[in-house]
Amino acid sequence: MNDAVIALPSAPRFAALPPLSLYIHIPWCIRKCPYCDFNSHERRGEVPEAQYVDALVADLESALPRIWGRRIASVFFGGGTPSLFSPEAIDRVLAAVRARVPLAPDAEITLEANPGTFEQARFAGFMAAGINRLSLGVQSFNRAHLAALGRVHDEREARAAAGAALEIFGNVNLDLMYALPGQTLADARADVAAALEFSPPHLSFYHLTIEPNTLFHRYPPPLPDDDTAAEIGDAIEESLLRAGYRHYETSAFAKPGRECRHNLNYWRFGDYLGIGAGAHSKLSFPERIVREIRYKQPQQYLERMARGEPVAEERVVTRSEVGFEFMLNALRLTDGVPVALFAERTGFPLTLVAKQLDAAEHRGLVARDHERLRATPLGRRFLNDLQAIFLPEDPPRASERSVALSFPVEG
Ligand SMILES: C[S@@+](CC[C@H](N)C(=O)[O-])C[C@H]1O[C@@H](n2cnc3c(N)ncnc32)[C@H](O)[C@@H]1O
Ligand code: SF4
Repeated sequence: MNDAVIALPSAPRFAALPPLSLYIHIPWCIRKCPYCDFNSHERRGEVPEAQYVDALVADLESALPRIWGRRIASVFFGGGTPSLFSPEAIDRVLAAVRARVPLAPDAEITLEANPGTFEQARFAGFMAAGINRLSLGVQSFNRAHLAALGRVHDEREARAAAGAALEIFGNVNLDLMYALPGQTLADARADVAAALEFSPPHLSFYHLTIEPNTLFHRYPPPLPDDDTAAEIGDAIEESLLRAGYRHYETSAFAKPGRECRHNLNYWRFGDYLGIGAGAHSKLSFPERIVREIRYKQPQQYLERMARGEPVAEERVVTRSEVGFEFMLNALRLTDGVPVALFAERTGFPLTLVAKQLDAAEHRGLVARDHERLRATPLGRRFLNDLQAIFLPEDPPRASERSVALSFPVEG
């Protein structure tokens, strides 16, 4: 341990608290996709919509003392499939939010929708409820690939939903994945071209990952090899840059000024309150940062919430973890972050990670000047290796690590 670290204070000090976002989790889907490890559960019969909305409102109320006096900068309804809920239910949640916390007048309010539940009247209803950005899980415009992904919608529905979303909201993100089972470079190029026909302000292209506890993990599909996947990733980037998008984060592309503000707040290590089953929160207080996770199973969450105890895990982020957590997020951003943001958001001076930064710079993975800190193109290509440099030397216990390492990213 170097001298600078020894001289550091043991607790963070915040001059001002970070911007605060609100995440609202809706945990049901029509069918569980074989690649998905999100907290999403196949709907069996009707979803208990009214009961769940009551629980969300009670959840928010129970969290109010922890966000007292703070303004909400953005709201994100994620899932699962939030578009399974009726516009009336979304309206009730948003009305409850507005009645209880100050919402910025220009707040970005996103809802994740699935083309399988597409219904144009619903989109208009979501808009009327106050949703001003729709994130549509298209995944691919190719019939065979959608089938291989176990999606409930086909390419016709994907196109119809994308068209309706653009017409009604304008402010739309399309989620697509690449390196799909059996996908060739030509297939991927066709997907990009199909997405560009809609000219959405925002596109997310995720490299399909095989996650433990998914059907694809148990029965692996035939995937493109690493070289082909990298070639596909490069081709996607090239086409989107040519079409005027900025590749502003590992998986996110936006037209200038149309970056997702909610996700930017995560990546800049802002605060978020997450309500609903399994939702994660990160909240800063003048002398500590706290992480919380709600009960994950929808039924258990509803039962615990009825007793006023929705939080399953709560812990204070330690000094040895906070540098890693900050870098895990900030290094995903192509432009990186202002150097001063580290102290603003972690409550510690940048000397906390001086040794690791030097090592990363030495390996050509990070570039910094007196103003900004960012991953180099090499660092972005080997992001996991770069992030690993900042792993805490005295890692927390395994049960705590899962909390420290996971962070939500919405489309
Ligand atoms: C919370 S999901 C849900 C959105 C919506 N339920 C849907 O599937 O259309 C957000 C996005 O994460 C991406 N995603 C989910 N699982 C993934 C995986 N294993 N690898 C890469 N991307 C994944 C998908 O593009 C998905 O649209
Ligand atoms: S990918 Fe989307 S629709 Fe499929 S199970 Fe996951 S959350 Fe549900």
